[in-house]
Amino acid sequence: MKVIIAKNYNEMSKMAANFIAKEIKEKENITLGLATGSTPEGTYKELIKKNLDWSLVKVFNLDEYIGINGEHEASYRFFMNQKLFNHININKNNTFIPSGIADPKIEGPAYEKSIEKSGSIDVQLLGIGGNAHIGFNEPFSEEYSTTQEVKLVESTINANARMFKNKEDVPKTAISMGIATIMKAKKILLIASGTKKAQAILNTIEGKITGNVPASYLQKHQDVTLIIDEEAAKLLKK
Ligand code: PGA
Repeated sequence: MKVIIAKNYNEMSKMAANFIAKEIKEKENITLGLATGSTPEGTYKELIKKNLDWSLVKVFNLDEYIGINGEHEASYRFFMNQKLFNHININKNNTFIPSGIADPKIEGPAYEKSIEKSGSIDVQLLGIGGNAHIGFNEPFSEEYSTTQEVKLVESTINANARMFKNKEDVPKTAISMGIATIMKAKKILLIASGTKKAQAILNTIEGKITGNVPASYLQKHQDVTLIIDEEAAKLLKK
């Protein structure tokens, strides 16, 4: 794993945007895996400023809440449109997010098929939960999991309540790419910022590979870069 330490959130965002921009320039019909949450917002802002040509780019997002549709303001489809897709020249037909209202038993395998049809994900961007989840793969997720319905744990529901009017409105389940789906990406870029991610980052990089720390599976991947700020890196020893 290659670890790059940025001074702060803004520098992390600029570095991550440069990383992704370079990949898009090298392969105009690249397939990206993208993420939602507060962490990638700055990266998307920086990417928009670069005026890249997204006309041939395909995007597969990691996950979506179950039970809400893409018009819901807290849905990840809404987030991606607002924070990135509406500001770049991407063909929306080339943007894929698992449906939160389809039957996940059908939607999961169909999502895997459409990723396969595109070849594979060239670069997967990831955030990380305070509990080291990636996508919505919470602790004790199966290493060989594919896109499927997953239960959100209490700490994730609490962390995401800010996106909803009431905490009770946060869906209890989501549909998420699995660990195996993520591991199939050719290249992975994980970004993290702030002290609340420091323990998860330590466990991910220097800890044992364990289902209790879903991001630790990334140690088995051949091409992972972490761009993290000083606060997220503060517990690293090596
Ligand atoms: P955050 O979420 O970027 O909003 O902290 C990251 C995650 O839960 O994966």
